[in-house]
Amino acid sequence: MKIAVVGTGYVGLVTGVSLSEIGHTVMCVDVDESKVARMQAGVSPIYEPGLSEMMESNIEAGRLSFTTEHRDAFVDADAIYIAVGTPQKEDGTADLRFIESVAGNIAEHLTGYAVVVTKSTVPVGTNDYIQSYIAKYTDVSFDVVSNPEFLREGSAVYDTFNGDRVVIGSDRAEAASVVEKINRPFGLPVFKTDIRSAEMIKYASNAFLATKISFVNEVATLCEKLGANVEDVAKGMGQDKRIGKKFLNAGIGYGGSCFPKDTSALVQISGEAGHDFTLLKAVMEVNERQQRLLVEKAKERFGSLRGMTIAILGLSFKANTDDMREAASVVLAEELVLAGAHVVAYDPIAIENAKQVLPEAVDYAGSTEAALDGADATFVVTDWDEIKELDTGTFKERLTKPVVFDGRNCFDLDDMREAGVEYYSVGRPGIGKEGVMR
Ligand code: UDX
Repeated sequence: MKIAVVGTGYVGLVTGVSLSEIGHTVMCVDVDESKVARMQAGVSPIYEPGLSEMMESNIEAGRLSFTTEHRDAFVDADAIYIAVGTPQKEDGTADLRFIESVAGNIAEHLTGYAVVVTKSTVPVGTNDYIQSYIAKYTDVSFDVVSNPEFLREGSAVYDTFNGDRVVIGSDRAEAASVVEKINRPFGLPVFKTDIRSAEMIKYASNAFLATKISFVNEVATLCEKLGANVEDVAKGMGQDKRIGKKFLNAGIGYGGSCFPKDTSALVQISGEAGHDFTLLKAVMEVNERQQRLLVEKAKERFGSLRGMTIAILGLSFKANTDDMREAASVVLAEELVLAGAHVVAYDPIAIENAKQVLPEAVDYAGSTEAALDGADATFVVTDWDEIKELDTGTFKERLTKPVVFDGRNCFDLDDMREAGVEYYSVGRPGIGKEGVMR
């Protein structure tokens, strides 16, 4: 089929490239000329494992192209995917500016029937709004289908081909069938429902996953107080299939482009609908507190952090991405600088992005070892493999104190004890100067 994808952010680009990989002819539209030129030359603007290779081969095969002209992409398109951003406004609601602009473009350039497929995460009711918005400006017939994405950054290509389900929300069976046919080569289970339920599935899924994380983080706090180990608690809980073992890793809280934004949007949507979503508000509150937890532990341990040199290992909001959106490292670095510490930060790939959002006073190192050299203590924020695989002796050798605050539970307690490192992680017994602390 012939498909247009509007918006080449991480969702749009991964979707467009993947659709070309399964045999469709895909043209991606973006307003950014230099970005389009780079993509046309096979250069991916985002770091996503497997994406560049797939881009190159499909461009070469003539199935994938990029343009700044909506008209070129929309001519004869069987489907037009909307994959533009829905940033968060100050009041927590989703900003639909870009969606409206695409809807306007579709109305202007539509020449024959097409299915408009919304990938962007939009508040419940938005697809109905898109339908009426386009219909106001064109007589050409079309249908709108909600087809939310569930892609994790860093494994978005893998998730596209191995997802648990493809959700298709439509009030017209024919339009839903078109989207089902487009997706058939992926071979994934399809769940068809009405438009509003599909929109809700996306928000409810992300909110539920965020809830799981905040829940286990609360359990972690309790484990610390009661002398239990949250890793074993989560493992034991996760063996119950009704609970499931995924998203039960206690840590420094969730970040990224989806969970923080979608949870606060759902609280807003809920409020506007006349319901106070108290549970989700608590989930968000726990997450904010969680991001500050390690600094509190450090203040408790040292009294004052003034004049100390502190290394931050890992800056991106999670491993395998250079994305700094809502990363816990931002909150952490701000708190440390505010407390008078000198911060030296390291990340395998996110340093350039980090420079845009971390306080100016932060210095950067080119390796974990360089960050640790001469620092008094370190905070582990992102569980990159190269950080998890660090020899525990490295901390003893390079840190002057050596005290490690680990927001991702990367290291084995026994290893740290044997290496003689003071070690405080999340929801597990701390290893103080005199060994295990309860
Ligand atoms: C998420 C959803 O997984 C995806 O379905 C949705 O479409 C977009 O949002 P993403 O933000 O890429 O994907 O990352 P994810 O792997 O889900 O992690 C989100 C955050 O939660 C990260 O900061 C991660 O470190 C944290 N997390 C995740 C935990 O703290 N504990 C866990 O057990 C799992």
